[in-house]
Amino acid sequence: MLVSKSITAERSLAASPFPPNGQSLGAFRRALLRWYDHHHRHLPWRETRDPYRIWLSEIMLQQTRVAAVLEHYRIFLQRFPNIQSLAAASEDTVLSAWSGLGYYRRARMLHRCAQRIAKQHGGCFPPDSKALIALPGIGRYTAAAIASIAFDEPVAVVDGNVERVLQRLVGKERTAIALTTPQTWQLAQELLATSRPGDFNQAMMELGATVCVPGEPRCAFCPVRKWCGTIAQENGAPSARGMLKPPSAPPIKKKLWCWLSLRNGDIRLVQRPREASLMPGMWELPQSAEAPPAWKTASHWRTFRHSITITNYTVHVLRSIRADHSAAPRGKWIALDSVSQLPITGLTRKILKADGII
Ligand code: ADE
Repeated sequence: MLVSKSITAERSLAASPFPPNGQSLGAFRRALLRWYDHHHRHLPWRETRDPYRIWLSEIMLQQTRVAAVLEHYRIFLQRFPNIQSLAAASEDTVLSAWSGLGYYRRARMLHRCAQRIAKQHGGCFPPDSKALIALPGIGRYTAAAIASIAFDEPVAVVDGNVERVLQRLVGKERTAIALTTPQTWQLAQELLATSRPGDFNQAMMELGATVCVPGEPRCAFCPVRKWCGTIAQENGAPSARGMLKPPSAPPIKKKLWCWLSLRNGDIRLVQRPREASLMPGMWELPQSAEAPPAWKTASHWRTFRHSITITNYTVHVLRSIRADHSAAPRGKWIALDSVSQLPITGLTRKILKADGII
């Protein structure tokens, strides 16, 4: 349902009406788009309408920060420049290209989706959100992002950033009524500038990522502050009160010992079980949660810090260069020059990079 320019009376949402006081929705859209045109970050996936590239960026952006995506995106596209090359690749090659991004289930779904598109859609993305959502690994958000950005379909997206923007716009703090998830999608759809749906969606996300940030928003730079229910209440100086997430659980601390064993151009690596819940089938250095005897004096090389979800690891890397390699009994010897083709865990990548191996 699209709303008219003065929508206050027509609003069906339980939270405060938006825009307030019958202000123009058209002016809101124009202000946001004008800001986006002048201030958006120039990112490679914004220079294209190719649904493959947009899809890839959206999946990667669900995984990690923009800065971290940039390099992975470039390398991934070098290896798999189109849906056909991705569909034809082996799963291991795809996981290896995904290495460092984490959450490998996404990479597996990406691969499965490419195979489905190659097989059932002649290698072309279906051009509407309803058909996109039927594909593996594509949910409501991703379908709407691809459909609006690549195909101009007037369908709104809601990710974490957009949700925060919307909650603040309706003055969640003031009314103490938060939008429910269905209401955020409904409001996002009502606000959408249907003349430029892809840009408008990206503008909402960009606003949340760079201005209407978690914690202390940068309201002085906000192009739509005059429509904001939060700022109005706080007299131009919104506080972050009530916007902060509840304190998260303290991180768990663990120790790990890893062996970096090299022999005649080979390295010792272990493959994680295919049925493991975390990083199944990935390769890593032999490791132990128990300190091996006399590790401090014998072979300690370096200590790394590594975080996986809420666990912070202190990782002691031991070098094993003795001829018998009994210190790293598990795993297989793998030629160093083929390591970059293997799906390796993020921690292993970090260690091998520090040693100049990859
Ligand atoms: N987050 C995910 N995709 C995005 C996009 N296309 N623009 C801005 N932020 C995003």
